[in-house]
Amino acid sequence: MLIAVIPGDGIGPEIMSASLEVLSSIGFFPEYVYLSVGLDKWKRENIAISEDDLDVLKRADAILKAPITTPPSMRNSFSSVTLTIRKELELYANIRPLQSFPISPFKDINIVIIRENTEGLYSGVETFNGKTATTKRIITKKASERIVNFAFQYALNNWRKKITCVHKANIMKMTCGLFKEVFLEVAEKYPEINSDELLVDNCAFQMVSNPENLDVLLTTNMFGDILSDLGAALIGSLGLLGSINIGEKSILFEPVHGTAPDIVGKNIANPTGMIIASTYMLDFFGVKKGEKIRKTINKLFGNRLDLTKDLGGKATTKDFVRTLINLMDN
Ligand code: NAI
Repeated sequence: MLIAVIPGDGIGPEIMSASLEVLSSIGFFPEYVYLSVGLDKWKRENIAISEDDLDVLKRADAILKAPITTPPSMRNSFSSVTLTIRKELELYANIRPLQSFPISPFKDINIVIIRENTEGLYSGVETFNGKTATTKRIITKKASERIVNFAFQYALNNWRKKITCVHKANIMKMTCGLFKEVFLEVAEKYPEINSDELLVDNCAFQMVSNPENLDVLLTTNMFGDILSDLGAALIGSLGLLGSINIGEKSILFEPVHGTAPDIVGKNIANPTGMIIASTYMLDFFGVKKGEKIRKTINKLFGNRLDLTKDLGGKATTKDFVRTLINLMDN
């Protein structure tokens, strides 16, 4: 089993080493190949990710990835490595489970966001003529059918009852209109799963006011990105969520948050999202201990042991990992 590890930028290496320590502690020793792609590589070599790196990623059985910086100021010279990987490996489905922990401000949240990952407003097709900047929002029938079918299959395989299509088809009649139309068509093939729809602004409101009515939220690229950060606030911190990016041939596990430049090198990053992402990888390989790690994280939070600063505690990243591993041993 070959796992490509991307330690990433910013707090990436800190949370990746925390996550790998937890995996070692449960006796998970696959073959790892480390890829230092991202901003640091770009500064050293003037390239953020090479064809060789992409080949390694394509050959790996799974990819475990920490966040990578995309500086907004380098308009013409630096493309997002995260988006490049998603596009090159056709990782078309991004799954972001939102589940309350004992420390969460909103209890009993159990929502899964499924986001189309390869097009929409993150098409990367942008122009600027000195006066006007444009971004092309590309929605294709093919990619919409692929993600909608994926979402219904996901719901069936994971005992989910309802899928809500989240869009803004009243304003973006062509792009969101197509996405919604495909959703309604595909939904007819799955009568056992309830389906409904919400405008994205109302969805943001419902996530805060009536989250218990929401089950699977299916949406386009940027809406999914924004709504999952809102979801992270309901759960308690951006540092708590893991995600899965799935394609036909590749699978990548990563936390939902970014490189957190404001806390780099301070040993205070919350590694939970990275660790949760790695437990999804264990599930994928059929390694039963993923569930044990998640239960132990719940126990740690339930007893308010060693919380990191984002959760109001004083623990360092290393304290958190030590306590988690000790709790699992007991
Ligand atoms: P961010 O998620 O890095 O940070 C937002 C806030 O959340 C900050 O206050 C940060 O300290 C906090 N935070 C995030 N993760 C945390 C953790 N594990 N523990 C404790 N606090 C945490 O978002 P921001 O500032 O918008 O982006 C920073 C960089 O990250 C940008 O260059 C962006 O492009 C990149 N990014 C990369 C992603 C990826 O590789 N998948 C995803 C999102 C952003």
